[in-house]
Amino acid sequence: MAKRLIKNGIIVTAADTYKADVLIEDGVIAQIGFGLEENVSEIIDAEGKYVFPGGIDPHTHLEMPFGGTVTADDFATGTMAAAFGGTTTIIDFCLTTKGKPLSESIAAWHKKADGKAAIDYGFHLMIGEINGEVLAELPSIVAEEGITSLKVFMAYKHVFQADDGTLFRTMLAAKELGAMVMVHAENGDVIEFLIQKALEAGQTEPIYHALTRPSILEGEATGRAAKLAALAGARLYVVHVTCAEAVQQIAEARLQGVDIWGETCPQYLVLDKSSLEKPDFEGAKYVWSPPLREPFHQDVLWHALSSGQLQTLGSDHCSFNFEGQKDLGLDDFSKIPNGGPTIEDRFSLFYSEGVHKGRITLNQFADIVSTRSAKLFGLFPQKGTIAVGSDADIVIFDPLAQRTLSVKNQHMNVDYNPFEGMTVTGQPVSVMSRGEFVIRDRQFVGSLAAGRYLKRAPFHSANEPLSTAADAPAT
Ligand code: URP
Ligand code: ZN
Ligand code: ZN
Ligand code: ZN
Repeated sequence: MAKRLIKNGIIVTAADTYKADVLIEDGVIAQIGFGLEENVSEIIDAEGKYVFPGGIDPHTHLEMPFGGTVTADDFATGTMAAAFGGTTTIIDFCLTTKGKPLSESIAAWHKKADGKAAIDYGFHLMIGEINGEVLAELPSIVAEEGITSLKVFMAYKHVFQADDGTLFRTMLAAKELGAMVMVHAENGDVIEFLIQKALEAGQTEPIYHALTRPSILEGEATGRAAKLAALAGARLYVVHVTCAEAVQQIAEARLQGVDIWGETCPQYLVLDKSSLEKPDFEGAKYVWSPPLREPFHQDVLWHALSSGQLQTLGSDHCSFNFEGQKDLGLDDFSKIPNGGPTIEDRFSLFYSEGVHKGRITLNQFADIVSTRSAKLFGLFPQKGTIAVGSDADIVIFDPLAQRTLSVKNQHMNVDYNPFEGMTVTGQPVSVMSRGEFVIRDRQFVGSLAAGRYLKRAPFHSANEPLSTAADAPAT
């Protein structure tokens, strides 16, 4: 394997910013320092560039059946787009079906991904029910499959939603196994009632998606999940936090010592509810659950990230074409497939709006976009940092290069971009996965067979001792 040296760049990790060269050998970072040129086969000049750990996107939905259709990006297009955007690891949600063995669903997800991913990937596993069979399967899923995060939906009534008993029992099981429970926190029962009431009143346009999912119902579900996690003594991760009410519940629980973590997504940081009112059904492009909120919530989310009350950024990439998919809900907002394309723009949009605009520091950026997810999801220190021995998953990033986000220049396999026309400052130039270029000078040079499945460690392992001061919730 080639011995490569990244020279003259500025290394940025969650902890440090410093100038040094990075020597890569056999896919891992072999040395960091100066005078490492001897016997290298290639020198990559990173003068004026940041050298970041590859982005880790802890929340994607590739080739996922949902809302009567299947997401537009599969593992091939999704992971290529991710790489263009500076992401070198994704963790995708493996859906399960009640009454079917979990192992069957996992096998089906491997089939979607194996040989089709340009970057490394892991899976979270949805839990829709707890019974003897599920409890019997879980230990080997955690220990042998390396799936150490279990997802429970508190919303999507009649589809994915699980009741509180199932959530609590999942927490108890997860705690035993060193797995983390993830929740989509919205009160699905009340939302279901509000949706029916709106439809009965003839309120069918996309904006009613937001109006029937008020933020108080996200706050309520977040608080409920936090209290159940406290009671179970489990570790809880709240996906796609959108609002002040949910942030407040997480912050309060953390103050009380609950082992709770929160993720937000780029769309909630830069878009607001008014997009759902765009004419000609265009509002459907902005239908996410939870929905986009009033603009003031953005400020709350940024503060939560900079103060550590929220810790990660997931894309929640769940792409549907406007034509032929989103339009399933033309006459009924509740039939609009939920989700949007964000895997490619997560990293640079967050850099531009976060670091470039002075809302977060460079080191916080590295932490939120990469390191923290590696730690929480059992991948650190193999992934998530620039350190000797770590995988050479590296983004060479030009902090001054600009790009206007657009469907015209994106690589996601979908017919719109929710951030159309936004100019971001800061762009990945080259991206490496385990020492091999996936993106070189903004061109895809990777291979769809290169991505490897990642077995992740349970959180009580040596990788992530619960007691490390840096990671324990504030007390
Ligand atoms: O609208 C969304 N977020 N779609 C993806 C599925 C989910 O709830 O994460
Ligand atoms: Zn969700
Ligand atoms: Zn502010
Ligand atoms: Zn999602």
